[in-house]
Amino acid sequence: MPFGILEAKRLGERIGSVRVEAPLIASNARAGQFVILRLDERGERIPLTLCDWSADEGWIFLVFQEVGKTTRHLGTLKAGDALQDLVGPLGVPSEIDRYGKVLCVGGGVGIAAIHPICRALKEAGNEVVSILGARSAELIILEEEMGLVSDRVIITTDDGSKGHKGVVTWAMEEELKRGGVDLVVAIGPAVMMKFASAVTRPYGVPTRVSLNSIMLDGTGMCGTCRCEVGGETRFACVHGPEFDGHEVDWGLLLERLSAYREEEEESLKRYLSSTETAAH
Ligand SMILES: Cc1cc2nc3c(=O)[nH]c(=O)nc-3n(C[C@H](O)[C@H](O)[C@H](O)COP(=O)(O)OP(=O)(O)OC[C@H]3O[C@@H](n4cnc5c(N)ncnc54)[C@H](O)[C@@H]3O)c2cc1C
Ligand code: FES
Repeated sequence: MPFGILEAKRLGERIGSVRVEAPLIASNARAGQFVILRLDERGERIPLTLCDWSADEGWIFLVFQEVGKTTRHLGTLKAGDALQDLVGPLGVPSEIDRYGKVLCVGGGVGIAAIHPICRALKEAGNEVVSILGARSAELIILEEEMGLVSDRVIITTDDGSKGHKGVVTWAMEEELKRGGVDLVVAIGPAVMMKFASAVTRPYGVPTRVSLNSIMLDGTGMCGTCRCEVGGETRFACVHGPEFDGHEVDWGLLLERLSAYREEEEESLKRYLSSTETAAH
């Protein structure tokens, strides 16, 4: 049964969003979960995070970066068009509790993915400091929405066109040095999450990441999304996508993503050059 697009909006350079009619998914959605969609009968299946939803109005909101065939095609769709298939909500919801002070770190389109988690943590009574990072100002999305669910928002851009010049780990370190951080949740490119976990390790602050493994069926049957966490094989689609960042085998994850190396390599190069710039 096709799922109608109620609204399609541009959020930034190569970043689009759709609000899709999906009452059953909306009424079961929880922060940290995702859907798998197919645009047409011959299309590939791609996972996208549930960024927002309304159980009352029966819609879900998805944000996507146009990186390849399916996401570019999705970016051409308009209100009135439809998605062929939509499966979800998938994955284990984020654990939400009252922890104290939480840093919510979003890199690029990961800002949209962290938004519902940030909102749920704030509603649970936590002090939420959001750190949003991107290559440049026009890629910082949902700033207003993040402001509404955070006590404080810190912005970093690689080129310094908005907020602090540098990468999110710089801002994380500043907050960690001040002390009192009880939990960090980081979502973005694998390379960013790897470095974010390395920054928190010496401070002993629990750090959750959401793994962007390649996924096919999303039900734990195909093994495509397998990763290693704490020395055990886990399937990101059914055991995650959230895991303890200090326990993830990042080398293996980056190697498995290397089937699509270009994007991750680009992130790594950008990350390293920004760290060098920030250090000088
Ligand atoms: C749980 C989860 C949630 C995600 N949420 C979002 C989101 O909210 N917004 C967003 O923009 N992106 C999200 N992604 C990544 C998104 O799924 C990929 O960008 C998308 O599949 C790219 O498809 P494509 O055909 O446009 O590009 P392709 O040319 O096929 O691939 C481009 C890049 O996308 C990734 N990718 C490709 N196929 C898959 C696949 N089947 N599963 C996972 N990654 C793949 C690879 O890293 C690759 O480098 C999420 C991934 C996971 C695993
Ligand atoms: S996507 Fe197939 S097992 Fe996770």
